[in-house]
Amino acid sequence: MTKRKKKRGLARLDGVETGCSAEPPPPLGRQRTLSVVSATVSEMSGLVDALAAAGCRARMVERIRRLHPGLPGPVIAALGRVPRHQFAPGSPLEVAYNPFEVVQLLRDETGATVSSVSAPSIQAIMLDQLDVRPGMRVLEVGSGGYDAALLSELVGPTGLVVTMDIDRRVTDRARTCLAATGYDQVIVLDGDAAHGAPDHAPFDRVLVTVGVYEVAGAWADQLTVGGRIVAPLELRAVTRSVVLTPGDGGVLQVSDPQTCGFVPMRGVLGASGAPVRVEVDDEGSLVSAPLGHPGVDPDGLRAAVDAGPQIVDTGVHLERIDETLESLDLLMDLALPESAFLGVTPQVRDAGEMFPGLWTAYRSVTAVGGSLAVLAGDGQAPVGQPCDLVVLAYGPHGSDLARDQAEIVQAWDAAGRPHPLPGDLRVRWGPEAPSGSVPDEPRPGLLGRSTVLVRGATRLEADL
Ligand SMILES: C[S@@+](CC[C@H](N)C(=O)[O-])C[C@H]1O[C@@H](n2cnc3c(N)ncnc32)[C@H](O)[C@@H]1O
Repeated sequence: MTKRKKKRGLARLDGVETGCSAEPPPPLGRQRTLSVVSATVSEMSGLVDALAAAGCRARMVERIRRLHPGLPGPVIAALGRVPRHQFAPGSPLEVAYNPFEVVQLLRDETGATVSSVSAPSIQAIMLDQLDVRPGMRVLEVGSGGYDAALLSELVGPTGLVVTMDIDRRVTDRARTCLAATGYDQVIVLDGDAAHGAPDHAPFDRVLVTVGVYEVAGAWADQLTVGGRIVAPLELRAVTRSVVLTPGDGGVLQVSDPQTCGFVPMRGVLGASGAPVRVEVDDEGSLVSAPLGHPGVDPDGLRAAVDAGPQIVDTGVHLERIDETLESLDLLMDLALPESAFLGVTPQVRDAGEMFPGLWTAYRSVTAVGGSLAVLAGDGQAPVGQPCDLVVLAYGPHGSDLARDQAEIVQAWDAAGRPHPLPGDLRVRWGPEAPSGSVPDEPRPGLLGRSTVLVRGATRLEADL
């Protein structure tokens, strides 16, 4: 464990004591008695706060451990040691220590979040993917402070943690929080991390905590032999935190995709533009079409959803409706240029009228113009029960979209439902293309062929 200064928790008591002894001696009598009483009350309240935070932290760790039983001991231990609430000042303890809660830090002029302290459950998963060991040198891209403190625990006193953020407000805050919690050995750098941190390279590990359309060549160049990068990769509509390891011929091999969502990268590798979001009913259901998508017609989509679906069978049976079909979602996202994302409220999902058989509040879908196709279970089988997979087809070209989805579902089934990756996926640096544009091949085909997503100098190549 990293040697930390004793600053928080009981350190509040230290503050009270030091403050009192530095003050001029109080007058004798009633006033002095009151001041002693008030110091004691203050000490007590500090102790109560520290105990409450420790209790919440222990509960958070226990919940994360139960959800992800494979998490390594050092990651669990680090989660148990770092006082997360001190990286989320102003947030109630229940929020700071909720495994799924993101602490919002900064928004842009449109109200979109540009900086946050990520949810601890995904931070734990990504630290597991990163496989950090004592003595390692780690670069973190995006600085909330909390991740850097966890990394500091994992590398120990002989390791190095460098964290970098493009936003000065974030780095100022990270420095303050890291100093206040005794992790001031972390190096906090200002700037666009697309260039890495050459003055502190090489790194055994690079942890990217911002959603990336492109993978920076600098991160790979600054890796030691045997190093790895963990990054939330924006595919089409889905984002997966993946492990990237250098392979032959300058490629990065992709493995271990884990579902996540992150604020988008800014700076030279930032994607220009934002996904198009269309409200398709009055209840707040949203179709979000990612960058590079062929385009949706908001009025047409609303009318199509209002008119209701046709049902297209896939012929594929599930023994149990799963919460998610992660590798199938990934496969559809990579194979189908019309991939988009549907989010519905739990009320809309449970009512089952607009999207009958939809069992999650979020789904990878396909949409183009005023047409939409959504994978669902037939009927209203509850989660955990068997079902046949169908595709709900809306709008004039809904059944074409649905047929493509059905073909993918059948191919996925015939291939033995590969998990977690539905094929071979790699990152290569290819010919230049305008940054932020996503000129996908017009129709990359479904399965058994290669799909290439070109983002600037990065090529994401998938053999499905
Ligand atoms: C989700 S937050 C990071 C969370 C953090 N790792 C934690 O401890 O919780 C993502 C951060 O990435 C930063 N960021 C975005 N683009 C960047 C870039 N090009 N270089 C460095 N930081 C960037 C944002 O300013 C934001 O603070």
